[in-house]
Amino acid sequence: MLTELQQRSPPSLISLAGGAPNPNTFPFQSASIQLKDGKMVTFDETAMKRALQYSASNGIPELLTWMKNLQKDLHNPPTISYSPEEGQMDMCVTTGSQEGLCKVFEMLVNPGDNVLLDAPTYSGTLAALQPLGCNLINIPSDHHGMIPAALKETLSRWDPLEVHKPGSTAPKILYTIPNGGNPTGASMTTERKKDVYELAQQYDMLIIEDDPYYFLQFEKPWAPTFLSMDVDGRIIRTDSFSKILSSGLRLGFVTGPKPLVDHVVLHIQASTMHTSTFTQLMVSQLLHSWGQKGFLQHIDGCDAACTAGLTDVAEWHTPSAGMFLWMKLKGIADTQQLIMEKALEKEVLLVPGGVFMINSSDPCPYVRAAFSLSTPEQIDEVYTTSTITTQINTRTDLLSFTFSVHRLSEDSLCSSKTLCDAL
Ligand SMILES: Cc1ncc(COP(=O)(O)O)c(C=O)c1O
Repeated sequence: MLTELQQRSPPSLISLAGGAPNPNTFPFQSASIQLKDGKMVTFDETAMKRALQYSASNGIPELLTWMKNLQKDLHNPPTISYSPEEGQMDMCVTTGSQEGLCKVFEMLVNPGDNVLLDAPTYSGTLAALQPLGCNLINIPSDHHGMIPAALKETLSRWDPLEVHKPGSTAPKILYTIPNGGNPTGASMTTERKKDVYELAQQYDMLIIEDDPYYFLQFEKPWAPTFLSMDVDGRIIRTDSFSKILSSGLRLGFVTGPKPLVDHVVLHIQASTMHTSTFTQLMVSQLLHSWGQKGFLQHIDGCDAACTAGLTDVAEWHTPSAGMFLWMKLKGIADTQQLIMEKALEKEVLLVPGGVFMINSSDPCPYVRAAFSLSTPEQIDEVYTTSTITTQINTRTDLLSFTFSVHRLSEDSLCSSKTLCDAL
């Protein structure tokens, strides 16, 4: 209530209402941050006082406005013109998309609920969902993401006409990572998205579109999102600046129907209160100075592409987005021991596939490799020199493949090499 009152009051208002500390007691006076393009982000004394103070739980207005315009321009969500009750698109800032996801799950999931997702999936999602006591149902997927026919088959356990009946166990939410999935690198086709959306309509489900790799799609035009198809207000989308601006600044966004976003904001109010004002102002200044054009130009410099040729000892699909390569090691039932014992000794970066499975103790022949570990300078350096191709032979001859990486640093290739030496 106080935030709302403050937002409606004139700047001349003398407030004795809030519990804000006096910023004159804070030791920080001003700041200037040099950007790589030579420009500066500056905080004079007044800006610094604001940056160090509490702010609105949904995010600072100038960042929210900038992001809302971006969402409109990129996704043109049908819900933009709806009334709040109909599910008008709204947004809030979160401390990374992880906070948004976690709060969305806590808002929607009750113990015993059936929740649909395509596993293997992001371990952070499993970590947020599993303590809620829900029942995770895996919808089979391939390198084009969730398979609609498999979803239909799973949903056929329920009658679409009975999903609103008291006591119905029909799933209310479906979670998916539509681009450059973590860990699989899979990206969903537009056709599949349409089919999944139709099934969600039939069974009146919400879709949680967790899309931190949206901006890391290697090919243009970028794929249409679930948000762009959302005629009903059933999409909750999480975006992240982690993979394109900074993961340490912790900036993410929830976009979805206003009544649901409002609930997420209430939860933020009761927990973290808001994402760091300083961080938000810093990024907001950057985005306003860049404009949308500058932001998209920056994104163009962030992409990385990975192609790989394999012998018959390992299999993968070349991802079209994201940062991950999901490899099946042939003849190995479970990669856990291999990675945790041999590879760890050599400080390797592969992750055993089991951690991305609903039941992490089941044997898993997969490993996840991140191929996006270079600094922008290194990326530029490699990009301007040429494509790097390196032959990596494993010590045990389990895995031998040619790894051809565009825009990757020598450092990350060394890491991959060390990693494979350890196998
Ligand atoms: C699929 C997916 N969702 C969400 C996140 C969380 O990202 P952040 O909280 O940094 O925005 C990650 C991080 O790796 C991820 O891979």
